[in-house]
Amino acid sequence: MKKTYTHALAALGLIGALALAGCGGGGAGSAGGAKSEKPGDLLIGVSMPTQTSERWIADGKAVEDGLKKDGYQVDLQYAGDDIPTQGQQIDQMITKGADLLVIAAIDGTALSSQLDAAAAAHIPVISYDRLIRDSKNVDFYVTFDNYKVGVQQATSLLKGLGVLDASGKETAAKGPFNVELFAGSLDDNNAHFFWNGAMDTLKPYLDKGVLTVPSGQTKIEQAAILRWQQETAQKRMEDLLTSAYSDGKKLNGVLSPFDGISRGIITALQGTGGYGTTIADGLPVVTGQDAEIGSVALIDQGVQYSTIFKDTRKLAKQAVIVSKDILDGKKPEANDTKSYDNGAKVVPSYLLQSDTVDKAQIKPLLIDSGYWTEAEVASGVAQ
Ligand code: GAL
Repeated sequence: MKKTYTHALAALGLIGALALAGCGGGGAGSAGGAKSEKPGDLLIGVSMPTQTSERWIADGKAVEDGLKKDGYQVDLQYAGDDIPTQGQQIDQMITKGADLLVIAAIDGTALSSQLDAAAAAHIPVISYDRLIRDSKNVDFYVTFDNYKVGVQQATSLLKGLGVLDASGKETAAKGPFNVELFAGSLDDNNAHFFWNGAMDTLKPYLDKGVLTVPSGQTKIEQAAILRWQQETAQKRMEDLLTSAYSDGKKLNGVLSPFDGISRGIITALQGTGGYGTTIADGLPVVTGQDAEIGSVALIDQGVQYSTIFKDTRKLAKQAVIVSKDILDGKKPEANDTKSYDNGAKVVPSYLLQSDTVDKAQIKPLLIDSGYWTEAEVASGVAQ
C-alpha cells in the first residue's frame, strides 16, 4: 500500500530542494514527476485516544466518514486511554503501509519512537486536537484556539459568579467568592493552554481578593486530573470539601476544563448535602468543555453552568482537508505558525474557534446547528 510521497513531503518541507529536483523538479502541487495515486490506493491511519468520552467517538467517526467520502481507505483505532496500546496500534498502521497518520495522542510525549518510524517510512503525521510533543516529525496540527478556550472558561465562571455581566463588563460585585480550580491531564499539551488562558483571566480577580481559593491549590500540578477522569475529579472535589470547607465555608464556583470532570465535581457537591441540586438552590457555578450531551442536559436543567462548544465536525473536516492537501502534494493552509512549539519545532497549525454555551445558548448553538437534537438535550442521551 505504501507509496512514495516525494511531493507531499516536499510540500511540508521534509525533504530539501535537491531531493525535490531529483524527483522531477515539480514544486508543491505540481504533478511533474509525481506518481499520481488514486485515493482508493491510499490508506490513512486514524489513531484516537479513547471511547469513554463521546467527543472522541464523534471525532473518529467524522474523520473516517470524511476521508472515505474522498475515496481513501481508513484504519480507525481507539486505544482505550492506554499508552502502550496506542503505540502498538500506530506501529501496526505503519507496518500495514499507511500513507498518512492522523493522531490524537493520549500522552503527547509518548509517541517519539512511532514518529521516528513514520518519518523513516516517509509517512506524514497530522496531530489531531492534541499536540504531539518532543518530535520534529509532526507535520501539521489541527486544533482549536486552546488558550482562548481557557479564557472562555474563566470568563464564564466570572459571569456565573456575577463578577462580570452578560456582556462581559465588570459589575460592582466584590466577593470574596470562594472558588476551586481543576485542570486536565498534565501529559496532554492542551491542559496547559486551557489552564494558562483561564489563569491569566482569573489572576486580576485573585490578586484583588474578589476571588479566593480556600484550598490554596492554585498550581496546575495540584489541580490536574490524570486522563481527565470523572471519578478522579469527584474524589479530588470530595477531598477539597473535607479539607477546606468543613468549617461551614461555602464554595461558590469551580473552574472545570472538561465536561467529564465537571460531572465528577457536581456529583461530589450534590453528595455532600448543603449545596442543593441546582444552581438556583445553591449549587456552585461549574464550567466545562466539549458540549457532551450529559453536561448539556445538566446545563439545560440549571445544574452545570456552562460548557465550551468545540464543533468536532469542523475539526474533522479540517483534518480531512489537510490530509488531502498533503497527499496531493500541496502545502496545507496554516493560520498559526507561532503558538505551538512542541519542544522540537514550531508546528504549523490550523486553529478553529470555540463558543461558550450556557443555558440560553443551547438552542442557537447546539440544537439549531444540528449538533444535538431537542430530544437528546431533554434525555441527556445521544441517539
Ligand atoms: C483535550 C481536548 C478536550 C477534552 C479533553 C478530554 O485534549 O482538547 O476537548 O476532550 O481532552 O478528552
